Amino acid sequence: SAPLTILGLESSCDDTAAAVVRCGGNTGADGAQILSSVVYGQAALHASFGGVVPEIAARAHAEKLDHCVEAALDEAGVTLADCDAVAVTAGPGLIGGVLAGVMCAKGIAAGAGLPLVGVNHLAGHALTPRLTDGLAFPYLMLLVSGGHCQFLIAHAPDRFDRLGGTIDDAPGEAFDKTARLLGLGQPGGPAVEAEAQAGDPARFALPRPLLDRPGCDMSFSGLKTAILRERDRCIAVHGGLTRQDRADLAAGFQAAVADVLVEKTRRALDQYLSLAPAAPALAVAGGVAANGPLRTALTVLAAGRGVRFVAPPLRLCTDNAAMIAWAGLETYAAGARDGMDLAARPRWPL
Ligand code: KG4
Ligand code: ZN
Repeated sequence: SAPLTILGLESSCDDTAAAVVRCGGNTGADGAQILSSVVYGQAALHASFGGVVPEIAARAHAEKLDHCVEAALDEAGVTLADCDAVAVTAGPGLIGGVLAGVMCAKGIAAGAGLPLVGVNHLAGHALTPRLTDGLAFPYLMLLVSGGHCQFLIAHAPDRFDRLGGTIDDAPGEAFDKTARLLGLGQPGGPAVEAEAQAGDPARFALPRPLLDRPGCDMSFSGLKTAILRERDRCIAVHGGLTRQDRADLAAGFQAAVADVLVEKTRRALDQYLSLAPAAPALAVAGGVAANGPLRTALTVLAAGRGVRFVAPPLRLCTDNAAMIAWAGLETYAAGARDGMDLAARPRWPL
């Protein structure tokens, strides 16, 4: 069948992104190609506030989207006339940003006479391993970032089973808060990982929340509280944090997060493997999937179960529009179309 070329837009959090993806067939991931993937990060705009400010994010998306789309088309060497559809994140996310993206996509679709496809941001993350590695359904997915933490079994582009997830903070959020408590820089994940290298993960007794309960749900807010308590105890002893205190707290925190994620992944694998998939695979996405010790532990776990482990390149694990264009391509090929009444949804479970 004829190749499909899809323009994708993403603006649900603090990255304004546009991308063009092309695929030779109308099913599967054979011959998928990222023609361009442009990401304008907003981190600098939010840095002094210690978190993403929704109003600032929405305004920046509205200002940058048009230029971002132009850059993505330019870089791909295509025009709107070469595209088959416009895909856009319609949720979940910060409503102002999602609205800015949906409005922009509607304008492009109406102006260029292209079909419009609304994409679930989580489906974008979850379908990425098909774009990068051609994974066959069903596969198990661990989505683990600053905003998300859940296990999904992907059965089809529009069909996912959620096995469990965090009941409070996402691990990336906990890494960022821990970095702040230890006086390290942001983003916290890489800073804590670097600090942990010189640390003893066993010095502090830190909790492994919910490990005693069955199922795949997780909790990370108690861990953050435990770090705060141990930090204050250290400060009470020597009037501040020593280098070793910092390294040991970072190492202990990182080990606790990895232990929880690995044990819950083991349980998710049990459920997944009971489906007897022909080509079993475990994929990860999200910024926390960049964590070295976590990746190593998951690789070992998957290998021990005869399961292929797939971690897409980091730029496709974190927020981007290639994943939205790809998810749009897969659902468009399956017949999905949205009208000018496509709504922006702040909440949209898979
Ligand atoms: O996927 P992402 O870019 O954005 C969303 O949250 O959607 O993930 C960002 C998160 C941040 O919390 C960051 O601290 C964390 O991923 N992160 C890491 C590492 N690199 C980034 N966490 C642990 N270890 C890392 N190496
Ligand atoms: Zn995301």
